[in-house]
Amino acid sequence: MAFPHDPFHIGPVKIPHPLVMAPLHEITDQPFRRMIREVGGVGLVVSEMISSEGLIRHARKAERMMASDGEHPYAMQLSGSSPEVLAEGARLCEASGADLVDLNMGCPASNVTRGGAGSALLKDLPRAEACLSAMVRAVRIPVTVKMRAGWDAGQKDRGTFLDFLRMFEAVGVRALAIHPRTRTQHYDGRADWAVIARAVETGPLFPVIGNGDVSCPGDAHRMVRETGCGAVMIGRAALTNPFIFRQVLDPGFEVTEAMRIDLTLSFFRLLLDLLEPREALHKIKKIGGWFTRGISGGAAFRRRLNDCQDPEALLRDLEALKGPAAA
Ligand SMILES: Cc1cc2nc3c(=O)[nH]c(=O)nc-3n(C[C@H](O)[C@H](O)[C@H](O)COP(=O)(O)O)c2cc1C
Repeated sequence: MAFPHDPFHIGPVKIPHPLVMAPLHEITDQPFRRMIREVGGVGLVVSEMISSEGLIRHARKAERMMASDGEHPYAMQLSGSSPEVLAEGARLCEASGADLVDLNMGCPASNVTRGGAGSALLKDLPRAEACLSAMVRAVRIPVTVKMRAGWDAGQKDRGTFLDFLRMFEAVGVRALAIHPRTRTQHYDGRADWAVIARAVETGPLFPVIGNGDVSCPGDAHRMVRETGCGAVMIGRAALTNPFIFRQVLDPGFEVTEAMRIDLTLSFFRLLLDLLEPREALHKIKKIGGWFTRGISGGAAFRRRLNDCQDPEALLRDLEALKGPAAA
């Protein structure tokens, strides 16, 4: 089966390619999403997880995470466990221009699960149902879910996620992304794609988006073949190769070192334009390390990255990596 190129729909929202950039906390902010869209191939981008409690309190951090530049299609992801707060949060997402609002039912971090949010919702079906129906009632944009395979192996083996699927259909969820690890696994072991296949087999009313361990373009093709999922969501692999979405759609698409360096340079400039200087430098240090992996001279660049306080010097260093011919 060739990788599908056709658009798919989440409710009335048309997604031009069945490829989704996964939400990544402290990574998929506005500059990152703009960069990944400009590289091309991706059909849908998602904000990092935004606390619904923080959002309705107008906490500065949550409001900054809402920053967006009229990008479409675009999903905002909320965390929380209070139906009223999530409903109000969803209204704020809709008002700020999001096309979709997603409920995080997968985050394994204990500071999130302690309050009953993230993957802890997988232990409390009635609460998850109350949260989702409050969100669906509060907004006109489609409400979607991103979930794990269960809280622990026991729950996964009992197939409890299938009860959740039926509940999602009943309350009017319009798409589901599954990262088929349990909460107990965090990021250990392998994502069990058989869970995605089982979800697809039930013939749900909404598209199923497969996620987990797609580390090269061929994995995305294999995920569609093996699970029948309607779209593929990619997270960590896009951090070392932001071109991966283009390569999934066009396996002949070649990425040269010069393209990777140019992308890194333009992304650094975007961060410096859009963020406060300290925050931009912090992101440059973090992301520069991933983007230059495998580039000749990249290891020496990364050693300088850690101590550098001057972003312009890093830009010059990167230009130099292109070699004298490109200068
Ligand atoms: C650094 C990091 C941050 C993440 N942040 C979020 C998040 O904010 N919301 C969410 O639903 N999942 C989050 N995830 C999970 C990813 O979206 C994705 O489900 C997981 O990484 C598996 O996909 P992958 O193998 O393609 O990376 C995060 C994962 C990582 C590694």
